[in-house]
Amino acid sequence: MRKKIVAGNWKMNTTVAEGVALAKAVVELAGQTPDNVGLIVAPPFTHLCCVADVLKGSKVELSAQNCADHESGAYTGEVAVNMLASAGCQWTILGHSERRQYYGETDEKLVEKVRLALAGGLKVILCVGENLDQREAGKHFDVVSEQTKNVLFNFTAEDMKSIVIAYEPVWAIGTGKTATAQQAEEIHACIRKVIAEKFGEAVAEDLTILYGGSCKPSNAKELFAEKDIDGGLIGGAALKADSFIEIAKSF
Ligand code: 13P
Repeated sequence: MRKKIVAGNWKMNTTVAEGVALAKAVVELAGQTPDNVGLIVAPPFTHLCCVADVLKGSKVELSAQNCADHESGAYTGEVAVNMLASAGCQWTILGHSERRQYYGETDEKLVEKVRLALAGGLKVILCVGENLDQREAGKHFDVVSEQTKNVLFNFTAEDMKSIVIAYEPVWAIGTGKTATAQQAEEIHACIRKVIAEKFGEAVAEDLTILYGGSCKPSNAKELFAEKDIDGGLIGGAALKADSFIEIAKSF
């Protein structure tokens, strides 16, 4: 059985004190979630050490929202994988659409980042997803397949054990407009097929694929009921511990 995960991407929200309080509240409620559902929070870089302390001994794991595409050195403003690991991260999100859209993140750069993350012992949540124009042009399957192939076909079946994919249609992020369960399911099934073609059925069956984009307590149940949707990458609704936990109870 592949792992179910609900991950909260806090994006550029909360002060350190607010983030610590949010993490404490998540830890307090984490016991209400099923044992087989993994919980991850991804605060901003500045919060990682403090939040790591809060999470100690709980089931909640820690993720960064990005990492540098170099190991170390003269890259002002960047944060390297070994720094994240030493701050207590087990995970990093990579390729979020906001990074692709506003910070010029390319698939080529992502190959390097995934390589460094895995080499440094971090697990990866790799985000893929089409924008509104691409969906309206009927290109969503192609766009998501290409993003998946361009990055992940550079890795091995063994590497895939440390990788989770998050399908986040850009038009559904922060817009209140969720993909229907059927729209999400058909893309998730497509991603799993792409992975199966390269790495075989067993690897594809084991791969956790999350949905992200206006996922909230009121729609999580329907989304998570789909056979290829293994959880969620949550933005806005992860900024409140009770709604984040409610989502994790939706399986
Ligand atoms: P929202 O849940 O706020 O739409 O954000 C989704 C997302 O981008 C998570 O990474």
